[in-house]
Amino acid sequence: MESKKRILSGIQPTGNLHFGRYFGAVSNWVNLQETYHCFYCVVDYHAMTMPFVPAKLRENSWELAINLLAAGINPENLFIQSMVPEHTELSWIMNCYASYGQLSRMTQFKDKSAQAQESGSDDFISAALFDYPVLQAADILIYKAHYVPVGKDQEQHVEFTRNIAQRFNNQTGKEYFVLPEALFTEFPKIMSTADPTRKMSASLGEKHNIDVFADPERIRKQVRSAVTDTGDTPAGTMSPGVENLFTLLNACKKQEAHDSLMADYNAGTLKYVDLKEAVADALVGISEQLRERKKELTSDRKAVKEQLKASGAAIREHARLTLREVKELVGLVNPR
Ligand code: AMP
Ligand code: TRP
Repeated sequence: MESKKRILSGIQPTGNLHFGRYFGAVSNWVNLQETYHCFYCVVDYHAMTMPFVPAKLRENSWELAINLLAAGINPENLFIQSMVPEHTELSWIMNCYASYGQLSRMTQFKDKSAQAQESGSDDFISAALFDYPVLQAADILIYKAHYVPVGKDQEQHVEFTRNIAQRFNNQTGKEYFVLPEALFTEFPKIMSTADPTRKMSASLGEKHNIDVFADPERIRKQVRSAVTDTGDTPAGTMSPGVENLFTLLNACKKQEAHDSLMADYNAGTLKYVDLKEAVADALVGISEQLRERKKELTSDRKAVKEQLKASGAAIREHARLTLREVKELVGLVNPR
């Protein structure tokens, strides 16, 4: 077995790539590639658990894959979940080790089913939404990943994955699956600049997230209109809006600017307009690099798709091997 530890993470092809996702997940994924054997997956099967438009699903998956490549994910580490059908087959098997009671307690299921009931014209909630964590567990276990880089909101799903892997190991009498651990990022919560009490998110609407591929003027405009003081911050504490702007500077690795502006803040001489300019410059700088790479990638979309299909096929070999071993262990018949 290779000596490098393995990493798997997934991201749904819904919504845009904004700076919350970028700093909270993707830029961390990029850095981890130096140390670990990484598997990164656009989880299109998971995107089907909520109402979706078939005509858009595939295009959204390719679009996100291209965005991830532009952000610096190596093509050989990236694939689209449905390219590796073994995930769904393992997911059926793992269902038999998953506790119905534990699935019922998953907060993401409770939140999303409430959301579906509020927004939908009917109150349809798919069984797949309930079963979502089992497929996520299969994504992770099929590569015997040691670490799963995710945001805090996914902690419960990783814990669930450990539980079903443990049950499987106990029942088969083998330490077969690696028990994965969540790996939290340095910036687990980037807030919306329009409402710094809420997480930057695609689903809150345009003004609540800054798209990493937006043109520089739009980025500057969004940062300039960032909420700083809401008037209800207790004396002596930093308001969430200002704190978020400092976090963004840190996330952009602008330590010097961060420290000097923080010194101004502590001295009571900080001008918010200076802080905002520094943040806008830093975000635009990152965005320009990504936009440049995306332009190159989209100039030959066909080549990129071919490249990803090739990595999907290579990654599939790992999944196939695990599935064969699992089928042996649980008494199923392997095909030729
Ligand atoms: P989602 O946007 O919920 O599909 O999440 C994709 C990944 O990005 C997950 O690992 C999240 O934890 C992370 N993420 C999404 N929004 C933010 C945010 N505002 N701050 C930090 N991380 C985020
Ligand atoms: N549930 C994750 C999210 O909402 C996405 C995901 C699917 C995932 N499969 C995964 C994350 C496997 C980590 C590992 O963000």
